[in-house]
Amino acid sequence: MTVCEYQPGLDGIPAAESQISYVDGKQGILEYRGIRIEELAEKSTFLETAYLLIWGQLPTQEELTAFESEVRYHRRVKYRIRDMMKCFPESGHPMDALQASAAALGLFYSRRALDNPDYIREAVVRLLAKIPTMVAAFQLMRNGNDPVRPNDDLDYATNFLYMLTEQEPDPLAAKVFDVCLTLHAEHTINASTFSAMVTASTLTDPYGVMASAVGTLAGPLHGGANEEVIAILEEIGSVENVRPYVEDCIRRKAKIMGFGHRVYKVKDPRATILQDLAEQLFEKTGRDKYYDIAVELERVIEEKLGHKGIYANVDFYSGLVYRKLGIPTDLFTPVFAIARVAGWLAHWKEQLAENRIFRPTQIYTGAHNAPYIPIQKR
Ligand code: SDX
Repeated sequence: MTVCEYQPGLDGIPAAESQISYVDGKQGILEYRGIRIEELAEKSTFLETAYLLIWGQLPTQEELTAFESEVRYHRRVKYRIRDMMKCFPESGHPMDALQASAAALGLFYSRRALDNPDYIREAVVRLLAKIPTMVAAFQLMRNGNDPVRPNDDLDYATNFLYMLTEQEPDPLAAKVFDVCLTLHAEHTINASTFSAMVTASTLTDPYGVMASAVGTLAGPLHGGANEEVIAILEEIGSVENVRPYVEDCIRRKAKIMGFGHRVYKVKDPRATILQDLAEQLFEKTGRDKYYDIAVELERVIEEKLGHKGIYANVDFYSGLVYRKLGIPTDLFTPVFAIARVAGWLAHWKEQLAENRIFRPTQIYTGAHNAPYIPIQKR
């Protein structure tokens, strides 16, 4: 077996063969099962896209209707999980609440029937259906209220916003949110997806796999960046302050959240679509001053760091859209997780189809034959 040269962060090292999605970082291309993200954002829905990612082809009308009704049926969460969530501290981060409740789902469903296609389909449906319910439930509970039961008359995106805000959203808001979920659903072997694959390769249950992925997505260098972007825009405060802010960050070699990407060396195609969604929302609901700051921030960073391939990524405009939809800032990453469950499930299924437990090697740089020094002599 040849040992590859060590690459920090496995930068550029293939860890799997996959047919789920494709990214061309130089041209800014993203495809799900070969279909361009721009087409899916315009013509598909999140649940149809999830079906495409997980089962590998677009569903027929009959298949989609059946899938949508299965997900609708499984939206409710066991009362024991809701009671467990009521014990979570209000000050806890919603990503920690989601990670704990996603793992807890595994307590209720038989473990490790991974060779049974019915078990696989049930796990896919339950996770897609229950993750949004748990995110919304924690939001209401941490404000001292009972969670709202899912409304089976509403579609996936509308129902989530309804459970979160206790009122039915404007149709444009629901449509924009559904597109956001499609945009965040999948992105080849990013950190949280790789975490899901490593966990899946041990043949544990899918709920533990999701808990691993949620914990990984939470980090500010990954899914947590969208929450940080809003804090940066608020800190900058005005368009005039953008340039000094950027120059100070560069001086301090500080990374600016929402920019840069391990793969994209041009503007993330998802950021372009999210920017358009933001403009649609602002046209209808009024411009957000932070949008003007964001546009100026993107312009100055392109001027200063574009030569290093640092451009806006998916996390840069998503927060502005979510704010307009009435989603609290610390729920931005849980919303990212709601969408990325589709991609994690697709890679979980693909990993199981031809599994080999992940066990990389290392280059040992430590000591050998070291003496054990008695504590009295240390
Ligand atoms: C997501 O992988 C995925 O696909 C993830 C994702 C998905 O859909 O799953 O696309 C979602 O996680 C998007 C990324 C969200 N994270 C952020 O916005 C956090 C800020 N971005 C950086 O932390 C960084 O760009 C990363 C982590 C995203 C990528 O980092 P890399 O590939 O490890 O790049 P690097 O740290 O080696 O930096 C290379 C150079 C360095 O400068 P030099 O030392 O060479 O002079 O670029 C600079 C870095 O300082 N740089 C930045 C920067 N990102 C990189 N400088 C300023 N601001 C930044 N944001």
